[in-house]
Amino acid sequence: MYARIIGTGRYLPEKVVTNADLEQLVDTSDAWIRDRTGIRERRVVAEGQTTGDLAEQAARIALEDAGVKPSEIDLLIVGTTTPDLVFPSTACLIQQRLGLGECGAFDVNAACSGFIYALSIATQFIEAGTVKRVLVIGAETLTRMLDWSDRSTCVLFGDGAGAAVLQADSEPGVLSTHIHANGAHADLLSVEVGVSRGFLAEPRGGLAVKMKGNEVFKVAVNTLGRIVDETLAFNNMEKHDLDWLIPHQANLRIIKATARKLDMSMDRVVVTVDKHGNTSAASVPMALDVAVRSGRIQRGDHMLLEAFGGGFTWGAALIRY
Ligand code: UT7
Repeated sequence: MYARIIGTGRYLPEKVVTNADLEQLVDTSDAWIRDRTGIRERRVVAEGQTTGDLAEQAARIALEDAGVKPSEIDLLIVGTTTPDLVFPSTACLIQQRLGLGECGAFDVNAACSGFIYALSIATQFIEAGTVKRVLVIGAETLTRMLDWSDRSTCVLFGDGAGAAVLQADSEPGVLSTHIHANGAHADLLSVEVGVSRGFLAEPRGGLAVKMKGNEVFKVAVNTLGRIVDETLAFNNMEKHDLDWLIPHQANLRIIKATARKLDMSMDRVVVTVDKHGNTSAASVPMALDVAVRSGRIQRGDHMLLEAFGGGFTWGAALIRY
């Protein structure tokens, strides 16, 4: 039994923030942001708009694309590190709004690797025969916890949501998923405030993404190089067997390094970082949806999804579309 992707969707908030807009906020320039990251603009949620709101819209589009009724979903998993509330989980908050009935529903916090983790869990449930259809979402409002006076982070992130419907099938499908974590370098990329540690009676409760970008960059390039090797080896496949790379969208230079490692030309790599910025767990499913809807990815193509993020966490999925 395999898990097959039978529908995808994405939803972006309306407000566009350009690099020029950020030049008004911090000492930065459009040229620096484009050269170092590839980002030109990002979307930012409206006042009162939540991660769940974005997730719900992306899910509705994915369900319609899949031709699946909400009541036919057996499990809902949301990858997010910016939940609406501490609890109930964002998955529980949108379950009823989507009309899913009383299926299992939970969030996964693996930062930027959240969707790959959620996809991996969904795949295990389907392969075990426990459920038939899973709605998997990656949704984030990272701009809610940015320090808008810190130029080393505020130019990088954006908001959005992507979703996929997975269904049990005798044909592949997801060929394999691989997830990893290493908490040893938590200090390189974190939000230093939680419920049981560091909560402050300050604006944003003390929430602020902190990142030693340069050091994270090196670990990311290295680690992504290893995870693509691991994924190919597990499937007895070679680099040239891959048709598409759908990478986490943190930095165009990191994406290009992974593509080089795979000997893939950039026209085989899905890039959305220019328009979306880094949307954490939403980045891979939104890139998947962009690629599928553009008609570029054909049924039977092999695509490699990968992500790296806070934790550190990282993972990959090899999918025959
Ligand atoms: O998604 C989760 C995982 N995250 C990532 O994978 C992100 C990994 N890191 C990166 O993408 C990159 O390291 C950044 C885009 C964050 C930074 O690029 P970099 O080429 O590594 O720059 P840097 O941190 O080495 O900084 C170079 C210079 C510094 O100035 P000095 O010390 O050379 O004078 C920074 O102060 O750029 C300066 N700088 C900026 N200048 C203009 C840092 N941020 C900015 C800015 N505008 N926004």
